Amino acid sequence: MHTQVGIVGAGPAGLLLGQMLHLQGIDSIIVENRSREYVIERVRAGVLEQGTVDLMIELGVGERLRREGLPHRGLYLSFAGARHYLNLAELTGGKTITVYGQNEVVKDLIAARVASGRALYFNVEQVAIQDADSHRPEITFQKDGREDQIECDFIAGCDGFHGICRPSIPPGSIKSYERDYPFAWLGILAEAAPSSEELVYTFHHRGFALFSMRSPKITRLYFQVPPDEEIDKWSDEAIWDEMLTRMTTDDGWKPNRGPIIQKSITPMRSFVAEPMRYGRLFLAGDAAHIVPPTGAKGLNLAATDVMVLASGLAEYYTRGTMRLLDDYSATCLRRVWKAQRFSWWMTQTLHRFPGESEFDYRRQLADLDYLTSSLAAMTSLAENYVGLPLDVPLT
Ligand code: APR
Ligand code: PHB
Repeated sequence: MHTQVGIVGAGPAGLLLGQMLHLQGIDSIIVENRSREYVIERVRAGVLEQGTVDLMIELGVGERLRREGLPHRGLYLSFAGARHYLNLAELTGGKTITVYGQNEVVKDLIAARVASGRALYFNVEQVAIQDADSHRPEITFQKDGREDQIECDFIAGCDGFHGICRPSIPPGSIKSYERDYPFAWLGILAEAAPSSEELVYTFHHRGFALFSMRSPKITRLYFQVPPDEEIDKWSDEAIWDEMLTRMTTDDGWKPNRGPIIQKSITPMRSFVAEPMRYGRLFLAGDAAHIVPPTGAKGLNLAATDVMVLASGLAEYYTRGTMRLLDDYSATCLRRVWKAQRFSWWMTQTLHRFPGESEFDYRRQLADLDYLTSSLAAMTSLAENYVGLPLDVPLT
């Protein structure tokens, strides 16, 4: 097989890229090692910046998002028993965020891919990259026990943090920067009407907790647990006790209870690989960087990476120049590092670190008091949360 752009991974990064290229008349083949059902049902985060919503609409995949996505004009920071409202829209000249599950984004993009008639292969095995530093890189794989290969002009490594693209780059040609956190998030989906219209980020003496939602009937909740926590240790009853202990405020606000329909543990990590390119292999999304979910940036960073990549590829195929592609890594990394900074900052502001003292706890409360009373501090949080503008024009 031959294609212009071979895409490894059918997560948000790979599927968005495929759709952008399709609309520009550029061919691609997407290979994914999981099944379609697995990819669609995998529950992940769900906050879309305005820019990501605009992109989905522009790409013709925003119809259900417009109908079912939940727009949010603000958020609450909760500490010392009280919730404090940050009006994101007012602080940022009208920008908002939208809650729409990442798996719903993936579902809509798969439907568009199928409608485009372009290739998307699920359940492929033994995916490998050959000759990334040549003019004819190849993706090799097995499908239904048969060996196959795709000759490509370019390869997009959109295969997430545990994928094969980044490790296929020779160690001397890529450098990684990382930080692990001494905690993870235990997350649940509950069949319960959200009791708040806005997200609530809570800093509690027992640790971080987050109130979110997926629909008018489904609440999404998280709390901080030790990094090696086992989900089976937590009965539904114990999860609710801990959620309510951390989240209930002095005015009696708390999440509504309901049957838990999904629970999982999410590790927390900050990671950046530089550069995001090796020869004709371009890394995008979680394959190149991971942020802790506190800043709600993961999916949005994946979307901006592939916007930059798609415009570079479009320029190559229309004008024959590598100019934008040569700038790809530097352009993305500027934004990635700012999102890293913000995600790290939100994480350390709102979590309790093991071994810290009561002094640190009081200091963190003072931080949050400042954050919710200074216009400058609120504006800084708001402009980062709704998404910083792209630093460069894409044409
Ligand atoms: N071959 C083919 N596909 C692979 C391989 C492989 N060897 N390894 C992984 N994949 C697939 C995964 O199964 C997954 O569907 O690549 C896809 C990567 O998707 P994501 O992990 O969702 O990453 P990305 O598309 O970059 O989206 C970033 O995901 O983790 C969240 O918070 C993150 O929201 C952000 C988003
Ligand atoms: C979610 O709804 O899953 C969610 C919301 C905000 C975050 C992280 C996750 O910061």
